[in-house]
Amino acid sequence: MAPKVLVSDKLSETAVQIFRDRGIEVDFMPDLGKDKDRLAQVIGEYDGLAIRSATKVTPKILENAHKLKVIGRAGIGTDNIDKDAASKKGVIVMNTPFGNMITTAEHAIAMMFAVARQIPEASASTHAGKWEKSRFMGVELTGKTLGVIGAGNIGGIVCGRARGLKMKVIAYDPFLSEEKAQKMQIEKVELDDLLKRSDFITLHVPATEQTRGMLNRTALEKTKPGVRIINCARGGLVDEEALADLLKSGHVAGAAFDVFAVEPATENPLFGLPNVVCTPHLGAATTEAQENVALQVAEQMSNYLLTGA
Ligand code: MLT
Repeated sequence: MAPKVLVSDKLSETAVQIFRDRGIEVDFMPDLGKDKDRLAQVIGEYDGLAIRSATKVTPKILENAHKLKVIGRAGIGTDNIDKDAASKKGVIVMNTPFGNMITTAEHAIAMMFAVARQIPEASASTHAGKWEKSRFMGVELTGKTLGVIGAGNIGGIVCGRARGLKMKVIAYDPFLSEEKAQKMQIEKVELDDLLKRSDFITLHVPATEQTRGMLNRTALEKTKPGVRIINCARGGLVDEEALADLLKSGHVAGAAFDVFAVEPATENPLFGLPNVVCTPHLGAATTEAQENVALQVAEQMSNYLLTGA
């Protein structure tokens, strides 16, 4: 019998086509991920589950997943999957670490420009017919120090783009070797040094026990006055209350956040503050990235279901 896959999030239909071409039966129900009870009722029929971030794979869902062999995350973060519960059940979890890295890095760079030049506020003011030419004084990026926390796949691309913008790039990443840093034309530093020296800080680490709250109040207070902080990685890496206080006091000059401690974020300590640019977790939201991750997850899952590889 052909394996059966459920797509429970908004994945490009490329994925559906690949599953069908490979002889896998597929049900495309892109809104099901938001309905936990319904998902728990139907999951027992499937050998594979393909998701993005809206579907939360909880122990309750896994309890009912009698046939499930693989969960494919079209994207990078697997924090919406209870991986311990999955592994106890013998269910493989796979992601697509490369498909959206350029897109996410580009979003971080876009957010850096947006916060440096107050583009969203200037745009809203211009749309409102105000022409406030003297209100929006920005800063140049050229010659400024960018502190990159996590210089892996996405952070590494950000480093390269920032070098192209003539920024001095310093990075905190325990996994980065001195040789690699030299090749990337960046300087490897300790976190405290990065906090002290950076004009802009951008985070590119996953949310783990070690990284959650890594920019807490104490760390934020060590930053250079006038710093601007960008987070397109994961919510919860930065203490939002503390950051809001430091923005209000003027110590932090701006922030650009794509991710929040609680998502979907409808309320947040950063909302409504001046020079805070916010987007609704759009880091991977380009046509190209969504095609890439859909294609990659469908290929990987099909290989696993059909050949065990
Ligand atoms: C990812 O982990 O791939 C990104 O955060 C994108 C997403 O969650 O949709």
